[in-house]
Amino acid sequence: MYKIRVSGSSEYDVVIEPGCLAESGEILRDEVGGEKALIVSDANVAALYLDVLTGSLREAGYETSELVLPAGEETKDIDNYIFLLNILAEREFRGSDLIIALGGGVVGDLVGFAAATFKRGMNCIQIPTSLIAAVDSSVGGKNAINLPTAKNQVGTIRNPKMVICDPECMKTLTEEALQEGYAETIKYGILNGYEIIDELRTAIATQDYSETIRQAVTIKRDIVEMDENDESFRQYLNLGHLIGHAIEANSEYGISHGQAVARGLVLEARFCALAGYIEMSTYLEIRSLLEEFGFELSETYNAAELIPYILRDKRIHNGEIRLLIPEHIGECSMRTVSTTRLEDLVRLI
Ligand code: GLY
Repeated sequence: MYKIRVSGSSEYDVVIEPGCLAESGEILRDEVGGEKALIVSDANVAALYLDVLTGSLREAGYETSELVLPAGEETKDIDNYIFLLNILAEREFRGSDLIIALGGGVVGDLVGFAAATFKRGMNCIQIPTSLIAAVDSSVGGKNAINLPTAKNQVGTIRNPKMVICDPECMKTLTEEALQEGYAETIKYGILNGYEIIDELRTAIATQDYSETIRQAVTIKRDIVEMDENDESFRQYLNLGHLIGHAIEANSEYGISHGQAVARGLVLEARFCALAGYIEMSTYLEIRSLLEEFGFELSETYNAAELIPYILRDKRIHNGEIRLLIPEHIGECSMRTVSTTRLEDLVRLI
């Protein structure tokens, strides 16, 4: 069984192994314990994988219950959060029992936040079934719910007790859903080097994402271990997200996170090149990488529409932001700029 150990305010393993969903009960019994398990999933994922997970947990002696929520970003709201807390309370869950997120980032974020706050913290298990959750959101402990004003406004950073990732689950994803994960994987390539991009090409050809997920989690682990609380080094993981989040919000979330990040990676590289921070050839290479993996980048964006969202970025402090500069594939740096300078740079897109 392939495990990646993540250290920090607490330590946990990320298990990545084809077929391990059916072994989850045994793994959790041996490594985590607890008596009861509440599995939270969405309707699409539950139809595919809930029975396998429930069967495995019951066989391992857990008393299980299930909550299936509608699929989609709207599920990650304060009403479902309170609904979830009440279920945990009514069913007399203890901190040592398990709440399991079976699904993608929406379920993972909602469950992570409920687990972080119920009884000041209970055991949270992440079982990502989408590529984007497997390579990114299931690892690192960030969780959040949305407010009507914007996404991810209320949350914490609290590590899961374990992440169990079965790459076989990627086989039921549509091309569109897989692409969400490609954007974050290419981001890791820009941060860390060509290896993961080459591996992604192999994964697409063979439909086996095990090694891509292992490499992505290792890169993320190495970054998060240096700065779990997102005060400095972890902000490298936001490459492409400054403009990406603005595109997502400006579209009223009609453009998905992965699609927005893909455009953000390209547009941030573009203004860095036009400002003379990086070579034009690096921008062109980033653009052609995204195109190679199927992203449609012909749409143009109006800087004036994006700037108000960009100026709400959580990373702006005292009128300054540390801008991420993709120097080359495999090397990024940070440069502190004022928000006035940032606005000028965004106008270059
Ligand atoms: N997804 C970015 C982070 O975990 O910091």
